[in-house]
Amino acid sequence: MAIPMQLFSCLVFLLFLFGPAAANEQGLKVGFYSETCPRAEAIVEKIIAETISVAPSLAAALLRMHFHDCFVRGCDGSLLLNSSTNQAEKNAIPNLRLRGFQIIDKVKSALEMECPGVVSCADILAIVARDAVVGVKGPYWEVETGRRDGRVSNLTEALQNLIPPFANISLLKSGFAQRGLSVKDLVVLSGGHTIGISHCSSFNSRLYNFTGKGDSDPTLDPNYIAKLKLKCKPGDEDSIEEMDPGSFRTFDEKYYTLVSKRRGLFESDAALLDDSETRAYIQSHANINGVAGFFKDFGVSMVNMGRIEVLTGTMGEIRKHCARVN
Ligand code: HEM
Repeated sequence: MAIPMQLFSCLVFLLFLFGPAAANEQGLKVGFYSETCPRAEAIVEKIIAETISVAPSLAAALLRMHFHDCFVRGCDGSLLLNSSTNQAEKNAIPNLRLRGFQIIDKVKSALEMECPGVVSCADILAIVARDAVVGVKGPYWEVETGRRDGRVSNLTEALQNLIPPFANISLLKSGFAQRGLSVKDLVVLSGGHTIGISHCSSFNSRLYNFTGKGDSDPTLDPNYIAKLKLKCKPGDEDSIEEMDPGSFRTFDEKYYTLVSKRRGLFESDAALLDDSETRAYIQSHANINGVAGFFKDFGVSMVNMGRIEVLTGTMGEIRKHCARVN
């Protein structure tokens, strides 16, 4: 019996509304584990909430970890692999200050107990990053999942692909564009520097001997330079400084106020004033009128970042231990 056309259209519409969440071009989708490990996200959420309540500074470290994973070989968990000869991504200088690997291992063990061999380490990094941000009063966003883990982790690739803190605006823009990220993603994700700390080594050159003549970076507020010099003496690599002084443990949009006042800690932060689009974003978010716009943008850009060169389907593997291939 032929189905009347109107009824057919109605069925198609209902399927569209209530059918299973569609996978995007990369093969990722929200709720990838809803059948295979329904409690996965709840388990991660609980562990991260507990972690942040006792060690709030780890929120920043866990957010940064997802970024550093995605920018080298895509979001494939390769950052987490150990190398017996110290030649893995995590052994590269820009990764030596990363913290919180033991929390990822804790999450992985809990998920292996619940549903062995199902949830990838790459997805764990993405979900943990979101829950870490939520834990310091930041935005919630739906994390796409379905990534698989890569088997290769290489120190040189990390050195070549992680953007240095002295990057200028063209390096920043090209680094993001190469990974399919927009100029807006650049300025929004840089807002991640609203939480966390930096070691003096990442910005000391701006305070002393900026051009080799014993000078400081003229784009940095002189009052801020004086304050930073009290903390970081010449050659000091290891002292730490809050990146968003006063609220470095709260995810807010004060980062943009700081950058607009020439108090962004890295040259890469200051460089965002050198492009009309990034400058406009900073200026419009500099006077805190509520964080809603930035929060929404941050979630969208994190999803974009989480799509970089992912392995899906039958590519890669689901590691049993995040630090070693199966
Ligand atoms: C745009 C290029 C970027 C550069 C050049 C950059 C550079 C840096 C540097 C040098 C540090 C300090 C490391 C240290 O001395 O301990 C840092 C910390 C941090 N970065 Fe970035 N970053 C960038 C983008 C991002 C993005 C996209 C995110 C996340 C969305 C992010 C999140 C963080 C966080 C949360 C910290 C604090 C880590 C902690 O407290 O341990 N960064 N970044």
